[in-house]
Amino acid sequence: MCRLAKTVLIAINYVNATIGNVFRATPAQQAAQGQDVKGVTFMIPMTCISDLRDLAKRRVPRAFYEYAISGSYNEETLRANRTDLEAIRLRQRILIDVDKRDLSTTIVGQKAALPIALAPIGLLGMQHGDGEILAAKAANEAGVPFTLSTMSVCSIEQVAEATGKPFWFQVYVIRDRAFIEDLINRAKAANCSALVLTLDLQILGQRHRDVKNGLTVPPEIKISNVIDIATKLRWLWSIYNSRSKTFGNLAGHVKGMENVNSLAEWTASQFDPTLSWKDVAWIRKLWPGKLILKGIMDVEDAKLAAKSGADALIVSNHGGRQLDGAASSISMLPQIADAVGKDIEIMFDGGVRSGQDIMRALALGAKSCMVGRAYVYGLGAAGQAGVAKAIDILRKELDVTMALCGVSKVSDIGPQVIVRGERAVTETAKKAAPRAKAKAAKEEG
Ligand SMILES: Cc1cc2nc3c(=O)[nH]c(=O)nc-3n(C[C@H](O)[C@H](O)[C@H](O)COP(=O)(O)O)c2cc1C
Repeated sequence: MCRLAKTVLIAINYVNATIGNVFRATPAQQAAQGQDVKGVTFMIPMTCISDLRDLAKRRVPRAFYEYAISGSYNEETLRANRTDLEAIRLRQRILIDVDKRDLSTTIVGQKAALPIALAPIGLLGMQHGDGEILAAKAANEAGVPFTLSTMSVCSIEQVAEATGKPFWFQVYVIRDRAFIEDLINRAKAANCSALVLTLDLQILGQRHRDVKNGLTVPPEIKISNVIDIATKLRWLWSIYNSRSKTFGNLAGHVKGMENVNSLAEWTASQFDPTLSWKDVAWIRKLWPGKLILKGIMDVEDAKLAAKSGADALIVSNHGGRQLDGAASSISMLPQIADAVGKDIEIMFDGGVRSGQDIMRALALGAKSCMVGRAYVYGLGAAGQAGVAKAIDILRKELDVTMALCGVSKVSDIGPQVIVRGERAVTETAKKAAPRAKAKAAKEEG
């Protein structure tokens, strides 16, 4: 017996000394990676957003992980968002004093420590229990805005109560206009500091993996998913302890629809293909605060947006989740910035996975970026600390990128940081396409 105990002890020591060392970062590495974010130490150093994505892949049930990574149909636009960004070459500069750097800015007049805001993500609370609250808290600590989706798991009121700080709220105009009016009044009551009106979801694009995983209306329970979920104990525990397990903004506010299935069916019946600029005018009247129009991908629409009385527009193709075959958002940014950049503040989203990407978007005319999957991966990987880590990675990368491009202030970032002031992104992307495409597909899959 004694010999057995000794053998077990030796084995434990051996595992600790070998495998433990392989997976645990040394204190020096931890400091280098900034792993003191929220006092959490990651077993493997999280050096970039794809490290967080890999960890999220292991921790989040497959159906929800694939819901996050997927794009619509053949995912051409999803891939183009990345390949076109990666094809933009930054201009390396030397011997310019960049000792004091300032990454802060304003977004729709509000101070932000970084030129980013966390994008609205439906069902965020299924990546990690209380996901919306944890992401909002991480954003608050980092000094950047968080946007709560209409289709969130935690409600506006729950996020407001748990964070105690203003956040942005995203709405769609759906058929039930009375519901939207009520939702906007709830956002006002919760002291939301901006309203993001998403305009590219008048009908729903299909994501093939969601259909295969049973993330449909009504949801389909698949044995393979049940088995998969049973292996994700950390995730299960977080969901078990979470404040909400339904569509938080809908439950109790849609007559006769109380369970997840009926709420999902109600939502699916609410997409409104009759949407027009009159609806934007209607929302403008209802919401006197900062208004941001999301989903602008065309110069003509951008001109109308600039005249709509909104405070900002977001050049966005919904992260490649709606019109497959649409241009990448970065390829449309320069034309839109040229056409309306003087009349309305321009934000950008679609494919931002690094500080270098933020630099590229700012160089091509955006004042700030919305970050989507990059923080979703952080949340799935490690909850609030993971989101904090994602923001921290982007901040450090942007800081170093600015320094190496000879820029000290965010407001100084312009076309001069791009090689030959290059603005014809699509042409560059065409040349870079085959290799970059394969790489992006591998990364997202
Ligand atoms: C899982 C997921 C859910 C999303 N849900 C919403 C949503 O509820 N409302 C919305 O306006 N956009 C939604 N989007 C789009 C994002 O707000 C944003 O436009 C997109 O993620 C940007 O692309 P990126 O993920 O490559 O950064 C969602 C995106 C993802 C990945």
